[in-house]
Amino acid sequence: MTETTFDLRAFAHGLPKAELHLHLEGTLEPELKFELAARNGIELAEKTVDEVKATYNFTDLTSFLAVYYPAMEVLQTADDFFDLAWAYLQRAAAEGVVHAEMFFDPQAHTSRGVPFENVITGYHRAAEKAPELGISADLILCFLRDFSADSAAETLAQALPYKEWIIGVGLDSDERDNPPSKFASVFAAARDAGLRLTMHCDIDQIGSIDNIRTVIEDIGVDRIDHGTNIVEDDSLVELVKEKGLGLTCCPVSNSFVTEQMKSDEIVGLLRRGVRVMLNSDDPAYFGAYVGDNYVALAEQANLTPRDLVQLATNSFEASWLSDERRAEYIASVEKFAASHGI
Ligand code: HPA
Ligand code: ZN
Repeated sequence: MTETTFDLRAFAHGLPKAELHLHLEGTLEPELKFELAARNGIELAEKTVDEVKATYNFTDLTSFLAVYYPAMEVLQTADDFFDLAWAYLQRAAAEGVVHAEMFFDPQAHTSRGVPFENVITGYHRAAEKAPELGISADLILCFLRDFSADSAAETLAQALPYKEWIIGVGLDSDERDNPPSKFASVFAAARDAGLRLTMHCDIDQIGSIDNIRTVIEDIGVDRIDHGTNIVEDDSLVELVKEKGLGLTCCPVSNSFVTEQMKSDEIVGLLRRGVRVMLNSDDPAYFGAYVGDNYVALAEQANLTPRDLVQLATNSFEASWLSDERRAEYIASVEKFAASHGI
């Protein structure tokens, strides 16, 4: 990236890409939080955007989640969920996202007394409207792993009447003491219902390697969220390659919940032919939407424009699009690259 004529930001933002690791609740910007609080008659402790941002002192996943969940109190009606998702889709479209598979956390709302229906109808309305922005969007229902397996099963039962609006299920929240095996039966039921499976394997967790092996061999996931700890075990790298599993990496998020972006791990896996790609995770909290994640990693690791093209291609390869649409998007990536002489 030393050529002065190459505009990294414009290239990274313009590159057609899929976003596969994005928590809708993690897109709640302070401005929208104030708007929703006023609409719902909620008094917030923080009075200004700066005061809200001053609470963003994250040193690890747990300290992030301690800020993330309480902020959701402003989300109550279907319109609130719609507004949140629609604001995200507009920003994503402006950064080159042409397809988004978006996580949402129903238990973070139903546990506060918000009906499941408000959550799903609001988010679905936004996903359905995404083509107005020239993009497509799907929803992935995540279970909270620090809640019980029974609660996850209850949530799946609530979701099944809306199955056509959901492409898959995921697993997020605090991994510590909540291994993937805890959710084996609910994931099997989701698979039987025709849903795709993914699970978070967060960075540098106790038991990361064992958990990653479990999600591949026992749960049978179609994709892994984060998961870059596989670099510690060559046989896992080979297994991930053999199965063609995508790893949804989030470099800027990594730099908040660990001490670094994990660029060596991400780029090392890219060079070894693993299907890694870049995503934003919780962009309102980590200050970078997906285009800026491409820029950040490119600057940190001195990536070439071809590397960025490969990452964008991987985002479609690892997506849950039809083969036909996947091929169209990959062709559009090459076309974009060619138009830049890459
Ligand atoms: N990991 C676990 N839980 C989460 C995350 C994450 O990256 N983002 C939002 N909830
Ligand atoms: Zn995540």
